[in-house]
Amino acid sequence: SSFPSQLRNGLLKLGMPEEVIESLLKWTGGLEDYPRIPEAKGSIRALQNEAFFLALYELYLTYGGIYRLTFGPKSFLIVSDPSIAKHILKDNPKAYSKGILAEILDFVMGKGLIPADGEIWRRRRRAVVPALHQKFVSAMISLFGEATDRLCKKLDTAASDGEDVEMESLFSRLTLDIIGKAVFNYDFDSLKVDAGIVEAVYTVLREAEDRSVAPIPFWEIPIWKDISPKLKKVNAALKLINDTLDDLIAICKRMVDEEELQFHEEYMNEQDPSILHFLLASGDDVSSKQLRDDLMTLLIAGHETSAAVLTWTFYLLVKEPSVMAKLQNEVDSILGDRFPTIEDMKKLKYTTRVINESLRLYPQPPVLIRRSMEDDILGEYPIKRGEDIFISVWNLHRSPNHWEDADKFDPERWPLDGPNPNETNQNFSYLPFGGGPRKCIGDMFATFETVGAVAMLVRRFDFQMALGAPPVEMTTGATIHTTKGLNMTVTRRRRPPIIPTLEMSTVKLDSSLNIP
Ligand code: HEM
Repeated sequence: SSFPSQLRNGLLKLGMPEEVIESLLKWTGGLEDYPRIPEAKGSIRALQNEAFFLALYELYLTYGGIYRLTFGPKSFLIVSDPSIAKHILKDNPKAYSKGILAEILDFVMGKGLIPADGEIWRRRRRAVVPALHQKFVSAMISLFGEATDRLCKKLDTAASDGEDVEMESLFSRLTLDIIGKAVFNYDFDSLKVDAGIVEAVYTVLREAEDRSVAPIPFWEIPIWKDISPKLKKVNAALKLINDTLDDLIAICKRMVDEEELQFHEEYMNEQDPSILHFLLASGDDVSSKQLRDDLMTLLIAGHETSAAVLTWTFYLLVKEPSVMAKLQNEVDSILGDRFPTIEDMKKLKYTTRVINESLRLYPQPPVLIRRSMEDDILGEYPIKRGEDIFISVWNLHRSPNHWEDADKFDPERWPLDGPNPNETNQNFSYLPFGGGPRKCIGDMFATFETVGAVAMLVRRFDFQMALGAPPVEMTTGATIHTTKGLNMTVTRRRRPPIIPTLEMSTVKLDSSLNIP
């Protein structure tokens, strides 16, 4: 980088106030020498593309780890460089907000944990994170088993009837059932029944995704807002969800009032281990709107992401039979045909690497969104406050600079007995759960959920792409979806001898998963 920018960085590190440096450099004429962020020639179409992150990848190969994409009055900085990503997420996170994301998600998440910034975010994070303690996550593992077993029953029927199955929608329902129980002890039972509430959740999710790829905020246009049938449907769905949440909160409050349990760090009600129950029992002093915002945020955060991970994992597995064979081998020898326990999670090493690698190739979401709240320096480039920034996790995870055979599905790129790969030990070249203070709070939950589901499913079934299925292509909302579903043929596997359940004992969880 140029001398003036080195000088500027050096002086900043020494703690000299920015204004002083600025005037000093002006005086020496240094500012004119600042390097400018490369400008990629883009069209708005690049971002409206079915899978816009693919366009961002092509531009990354041409323009490098940070470039500007401009159309009309709008411009975005696209970051694909690990050290700049680290700077934004971990070293100087106070200078960045959720920007556009908070605007888009306001109608459904309000001031929930994902969009919230500043003091509200800090308070809510402090209240919610303790709810996901170790005992809670362990209790969830049997829930994962029961829910996945329901999916297995469904696949069993399909296998007997010789019918193909659309796995993406089944995974979406599996993870909805799981997260409903985990967050507010509600059984959507969406794998079995199509209740109005399930429909309402999907209406709201689709709306959030439509808004995130819309070129203009049509939902803010005054008259349109009141007459659009689509928005009316969305509002009706939101009302149904909110009313349901209010009922669940009321029921849970009554339970908490009647119980004798003393609240403590690893507090958990065995009948209702949900996050909501923990929050109410903790005496968390919070408005009912804020509580609903947080519950909705957790529901959405924990639903679509995990579903997408399972979808792309199975897509990768059927394309790589040698990986599938190894995986089935491990699962047969460790799990047999019972539900996974917390002990199994430590032993299912290859299965875990399969999930790690699936998260590398298909990160959910593929880009992280931020806005600069103050002037800052990214790499060698000074930037102004108010810049909208996309950190492309897709680019980081597929960069030819950081990965050998970047596009290859190779779970063994991380040694089985090594640490679980995360953003810290991979130096921000790999960040499946983000990083810094806004890192995902459900990382361990989601890892066990997906490892457990994959293990149970491949133990019982063989999977193939359905004959004549449409090619699997990508499209994005918040997560990466297929354009036409993931159609597969499932066949039952022959069962090796059942391995009995091991005695439960306390196991220290892998600390590299960072449960707070
Ligand atoms: C944040 C990924 C599952 C709750 C995040 C972020 C990522 C992520 C990348 C950071 C977003 C950013 O920095 O802009 C995933 C993936 C999952 C998953 C890939 C599944 C495999 C879950 C689950 C829950 C959850 C199961 C809840 C139980 C959250 C919350 C945040 C978050 C609340 C916001 C944290 C904050 O801003 O303080 N997730 N997540 N996630 N995730 Fe997850």
